[in-house]
Amino acid sequence: MKSLIQERIVESGPISFADYMAIALYEPGWGYYAKGQLQVGRGGDFYTSVSVGSCFGQLLARYFLEQWREFGQPERWRLTELGAHDGKLAGDILNALARLDPSAYKAMQYAIPEPLDTLRAAQAATLKPHGPKLLSVTHASELEPLPGIIFGNEVLDALPCQLIEMREGAWQECMVACENDALVWQLGDIRDPALITATHALGADFTEGYRTEIRTHYESFLKPLTDSLSDGRMIWIDYGFERSEYYHPDRRQGTLRTFSKHQAGEDVLSHPGELDISAHVDFTAVAEACQALGGHPRPLVSQGNWLTQRAKDWLMAQEGNPDPKAMRQFQTLTHPGHLGRMFQVLEVEF
Ligand SMILES: C[S@@+](CC[C@H](N)C(=O)[O-])C[C@H]1O[C@@H](n2cnc3c(N)ncnc32)[C@H](O)[C@@H]1O
Repeated sequence: MKSLIQERIVESGPISFADYMAIALYEPGWGYYAKGQLQVGRGGDFYTSVSVGSCFGQLLARYFLEQWREFGQPERWRLTELGAHDGKLAGDILNALARLDPSAYKAMQYAIPEPLDTLRAAQAATLKPHGPKLLSVTHASELEPLPGIIFGNEVLDALPCQLIEMREGAWQECMVACENDALVWQLGDIRDPALITATHALGADFTEGYRTEIRTHYESFLKPLTDSLSDGRMIWIDYGFERSEYYHPDRRQGTLRTFSKHQAGEDVLSHPGELDISAHVDFTAVAEACQALGGHPRPLVSQGNWLTQRAKDWLMAQEGNPDPKAMRQFQTLTHPGHLGRMFQVLEVEF
């Protein structure tokens, strides 16, 4: 993998960190996520709310059902999941919907825009029992407009980001270069117009050597999704902050991390293709991109608070005869010491 990246650099010079991250994670046949589906869970590199158990999908299904009823129970509606990985969350949601309300299930289509062949195959295998409910597409632009909900868990943090560093009062871009057969950082003037605009907006009031990440393409990522939504909402669940907290003066080394065998690391240039790479989400930037596309973002809330709100009926139904396994999962998802505070939920109405 390193050699593939080195070849690109030898051919065309240092590459942006976003290009490096896109190859390391998504290059067909090579990238970390393009190689299979075993990254998430106990035997993989990290846990997500999905790998906690089916409680997460069941609570989402209840909320989606509530939305369908609020939409006026349309005869056709769609759930669109981004970053569906091996289809586990999709399966949990579809199983719950089929049980909770067969007519909502019948009217629904479950779309997964998935660019990677390997993951599309894994999703089709997991969701086989739901047969024609699954609409598998390579890109959201293939979807006709329908009412519904577009959502993703831990997908925005996996989108490539650019890296910038403060030098003598001006932002420089951290590019990936190759020296003596090793991948190394090389600082350079910022040339990408979107990054120039974004760094101007950040300002220059940062200490020497302050390094951080920035994603400038949320709007282009979201546009085909909003085009596929005639009415409804988006829900993005991820680790991240509002902008003022993200670019806090004390966060001098940003949030970029690798994950391998449940260990976090910081050396993102070592072993490309073999480690997960992610950076937190600037939810203010996501909310602004949604607003530019006509959306109305709600205030950011922690996963713990959001799920607890969503779970009122479910919790009541547990009274007297609780399901201990489901309650344990609910606590892991919502407790501030587990996943409840680390993850945030951004809902946007369209
Ligand atoms: C950290 S994993 C999360 C998987 C799953 N949602 C979960 O919570 O367990 C990130 C997933 O996002 C996917 N992904 C990243 N960029 C994507 C894009 N542009 N379109 C669709 N999926 C994407 C990756 O392939 C990977 O499956």
